[in-house]
Amino acid sequence: MKYNIALLPGDGIGPEIVDGAVRVLKKVGEKYGHEFDFKTYLIGGVAYDATGDPLPKETVDGALASDSVLLGAVGGPKWDSLPGDKRPEKALLGIRSALGLFTNLRPAKLYPALSDACPLKESTVKNGFDIMIVRELTGGIYFGDRGYREGKYGTEAYDTECYSPMEIERIARVAFECAKKRGKKLASIDKANVLETSRLWRKTVHEIAQEYPDVSVCDVLVDNAAMQLVRNPAQFDVIVTSNMFGDILSDEASQITGSIGMLPSASLNETTLGMYEPIHGSAPDIAGKNIANPIATILSAAMMLRYSFNLTEEADCIEKAVDAVLNDGLRTSDIAKPGENTLSTSEMTEAVIERL
Ligand code: IPM
Ligand code: MG
Repeated sequence: MKYNIALLPGDGIGPEIVDGAVRVLKKVGEKYGHEFDFKTYLIGGVAYDATGDPLPKETVDGALASDSVLLGAVGGPKWDSLPGDKRPEKALLGIRSALGLFTNLRPAKLYPALSDACPLKESTVKNGFDIMIVRELTGGIYFGDRGYREGKYGTEAYDTECYSPMEIERIARVAFECAKKRGKKLASIDKANVLETSRLWRKTVHEIAQEYPDVSVCDVLVDNAAMQLVRNPAQFDVIVTSNMFGDILSDEASQITGSIGMLPSASLNETTLGMYEPIHGSAPDIAGKNIANPIATILSAAMMLRYSFNLTEEADCIEKAVDAVLNDGLRTSDIAKPGENTLSTSEMTEAVIERL
């Protein structure tokens, strides 16, 4: 089979890590007889520098015309003082919205080989954990009306959170389907004691729950969820939550795996066109040094094979190669213990490729 993949390397370490994932994909293609055709487009700060627009139309068109999109990272101090609509982050929201990517899957699991890097006490994580965060990605406060207005204390800034039942229903269904294939436990996170959108969220999730009698669902307030994640992460199987709560909780969940450089993500719509990216950022401080960990991006490529192309065996093959690398004790600097030998980005990529 032939697949067209749009590459959006973006800023900072983006180009290096995307390059690693592309090399892995090419090798998988050779091994299983698939042709992956890559086209690269500008996004983020580099796109702004080249065109004055962090999300050029050509990039959106290229992504829409592709079978799937692999993104590196966007942003950096160079562009931090730009107005909101020119910031690299705006491009990320723009492309999520343009492709209708309302589902964001963010797996956070503890790799036994890396359990030393977990900041939680050994007794807290002795049974490991494997959480799938399902984050709503095209609604809520990220996309609500915002601006300035006259308020009680003079001019004030405001943002608004809106959710319609349809937006909650479709993400809830994704989460229930996901839970059904895993541990059959869904935690729906909201702030229903304060927010109207959360009360609608809760009500709607419970309506959809009727369609999934085999999945147990519980409601957790977001402040409590933040606490439970560090108190006993193994209690969670699938988490479903709104755009902003998902943003925050997925960073927390990634941190307790001890290895943010390891975590991939998938952003999906109703079709097979998805966008795959590591959950870490552009790490401008180490950009261009060939020391970034490429594994999150390589695992994002595996998610692409699984979710967009339905190439399960090929996705498993990449994930197993990553496991093997870790079990062999190979480390990039972000996951190495003090004094341990470290591999560069390209060496780690080669190590994965050798084990495919
Ligand atoms: C993420 C990031 C983005 C988000 C930023 C860069 C806009 O934090 O993907 O989690 O908030 O969604
Ligand atoms: Mg985030």
